[in-house]
Amino acid sequence: MRYIVALLGVALAGSASAQTRVDSLLARMTLEEKVGQMTQLTLAAVAARGGPARDSVRLDSAKLREALVDRHVGSLLNVVGGSLTLEGWHALIGEIQDVAVNRTRLRIPVLYGIDFVHGANYTRGGTIFPHNLGMAATFDPALARRAGEVTGDEAIASALPWNFAPVLDVGRQPLWARFYETFGEDPLVASLLGREMVMGMQRDGRVAATLKHYLGYGVPRTGRDRTPADLTPRGVREHVLPPFAAAVRAGARAVMVNSGEIDGEPLHASRYWLTDVLRGELGFGGVVVTDWEDVIFLHTRHRVAATHRDAVRMAVEAGIDMSMTPHDFGFADHLLALVREGTIPESRVDASVRRILALKEELGLFDSPLPDPALRARFATEEAAGAARQAARESITLLQNDGVLPLKKDARVLVTGPAANSLTALNGGWTHSWQGTDASLFPPGSPTLLQAMLRRGSDVRYVGGSRFTDPIDIAAAARAAADADVAVVAIGEDAYAEWVGDIGDLTLPEPQLRLVEAIQATGTPVVLVLVEGRPRIISRVADRACGVVMAYWPGMHGGDAIADVLFGDHNPGGKLPFTYPRHPNHLLTYDHVLTETLGPGMDRRATAFNPQWEFGHGLSYTTFAYSALRASGEVAPGDSLTVEVTVTNTGARAGQETVLLYTRQHYASVTPPVRRLRAFHKVGLQPGASRTVTFRLSTDDLRFIARDGRPTLEPGAFDVMVGGLRATFRVLDPAVDADRR
Ligand code: BGC
Repeated sequence: MRYIVALLGVALAGSASAQTRVDSLLARMTLEEKVGQMTQLTLAAVAARGGPARDSVRLDSAKLREALVDRHVGSLLNVVGGSLTLEGWHALIGEIQDVAVNRTRLRIPVLYGIDFVHGANYTRGGTIFPHNLGMAATFDPALARRAGEVTGDEAIASALPWNFAPVLDVGRQPLWARFYETFGEDPLVASLLGREMVMGMQRDGRVAATLKHYLGYGVPRTGRDRTPADLTPRGVREHVLPPFAAAVRAGARAVMVNSGEIDGEPLHASRYWLTDVLRGELGFGGVVVTDWEDVIFLHTRHRVAATHRDAVRMAVEAGIDMSMTPHDFGFADHLLALVREGTIPESRVDASVRRILALKEELGLFDSPLPDPALRARFATEEAAGAARQAARESITLLQNDGVLPLKKDARVLVTGPAANSLTALNGGWTHSWQGTDASLFPPGSPTLLQAMLRRGSDVRYVGGSRFTDPIDIAAAARAAADADVAVVAIGEDAYAEWVGDIGDLTLPEPQLRLVEAIQATGTPVVLVLVEGRPRIISRVADRACGVVMAYWPGMHGGDAIADVLFGDHNPGGKLPFTYPRHPNHLLTYDHVLTETLGPGMDRRATAFNPQWEFGHGLSYTTFAYSALRASGEVAPGDSLTVEVTVTNTGARAGQETVLLYTRQHYASVTPPVRRLRAFHKVGLQPGASRTVTFRLSTDDLRFIARDGRPTLEPGAFDVMVGGLRATFRVLDPAVDADRR
């Protein structure tokens, strides 16, 4: 105990001296130095002519001095053409910090930001995890925590203390090209996994996680990147705010703002969302950074500001701390003028600068700004690779199986399709380059799906173009299929990032559908492997597929993970974290309201929800039976409700099952959804084994956002639904049911 008190004393003394350092710096700073701290430039702005190359960056020392010494820039962000080795990062960061701490008046270190969005995806040999969509399919918060820890460790080892991750946008518009960066369509899944990832990443205090993109980015009405959200303020609070709230509670240190808008208000200009809600309601005390060029876009794109200067005023008044300008000093110049003319008080600038300096202080940058070679021991360990391998395996989701899977090791297997021999398709965007399409930057040794299958099966053949852009010889593939016991057709999408991946139609491209149809026409059983960042519609071929395996973008270990599932070396346990649509214009989420599903006919029955596969769907090579669902019959507001269910492995193999608990309120003042996920728990069971899973729900978990925008519990009857079973309970009304407690 005394030891803890002593430690606490040290921590408090430490934070007091940190506070003093920040305050004393702030007191000595000129206004120019302050607005410089609030400016973030892209690396390209200080790179030598030609910009950063794919595997090295040469800095332009004159530009670097101008930025750091003359213009007092506080932060740089990564945009290199490719990725760097650890040594490359150390040299680059060392050179930057040398100027910052040895040549500037106040010796303030630079805060360097990077997008490690699925592991250390910009350091050669870094550990690469599945993208968040695949992480969500594991339904395993502990794995998300581990992925965060590994990413944090490898960021520190790379001397990169500020990570622009995790993406906590809720992916409720599958057309969106950043769908794969999300944890899927459910706010609870995104909250629980996102929170763990943040805690893992920030574990030892030397890395800052950034929650992005606050707020509503994941629900663009058009489906195109950076376009307005299809949300009401009530919908924001119901569906997209919760993961940010959970991660702020978990201590996240930075937030990046959504480039889009909600209800006609660009987020970068929204005092309501950035200050009243983020700081006031959620209590966020960290740094708010804009996204790319988004301040000037208030003027040039959103057109809510008549001039660039007015855009700067709006963004600062709304609550941003740092502007990712990212090419020039316009933001700083305008802010300077706005303070000088008295439009923005200097105290407002001070508040932001204090937060930025405090972040640098917390990250230890003042005490050790230079890369520490000793930290390399934390990079790409065998244990980290094991975690990424486990995440890839646990993400793989078996959507359909008529018994064709698992494959026999000696089966004659044709492997074909554009994703079959592609590492870029397994890894998706943000992998060794922004778009992730340059496989020459990838480490040697990670197998494609084909290579992984060749290692496992004794008779695996291959026909096909090796890239998505190659023509597919459909006739040759069909001929080879006719001669095989089974055809594994890997289809989907090659890597893309952000708006480059915008599409106007979710349907899988025609050549790929034709390939599948031609192979199906041979009569050879077809297994589809979906390697994709969002659900491309395959209804034309799905029903005739004997097996369908969803791989998402599983990362460097994806080839092995998929092959393990196909050959039965791993029993799949992933579950879909979104609703897989059957039709391009039927894009409902699982938690829709009944009236969204009214079908044709005079009686308009609710029959129109018919997705290809439902949220939470995922098969196994064993079977699970659910029984004995029990819920305490009545619960008073503020009390907790116990729900129990028994799960039995009724098949012949050990397996993992995620138990998903939904509730449905019978009647409410706001149309209740047909179901809402309230809890989940993953269990591993040996054949014949049973486990009783107990959930404890608080009545707070049963709240919804009422018309006044507040979380509200309304008494009445609820269904609880688990594994096809249903029980009913009541939330008591204190006014009416007082005597029943
Ligand atoms: C993206 C952000 C990213 C930033 C820096 C932007 O275009 O929207 O997610 O963090 O670039 O690379």
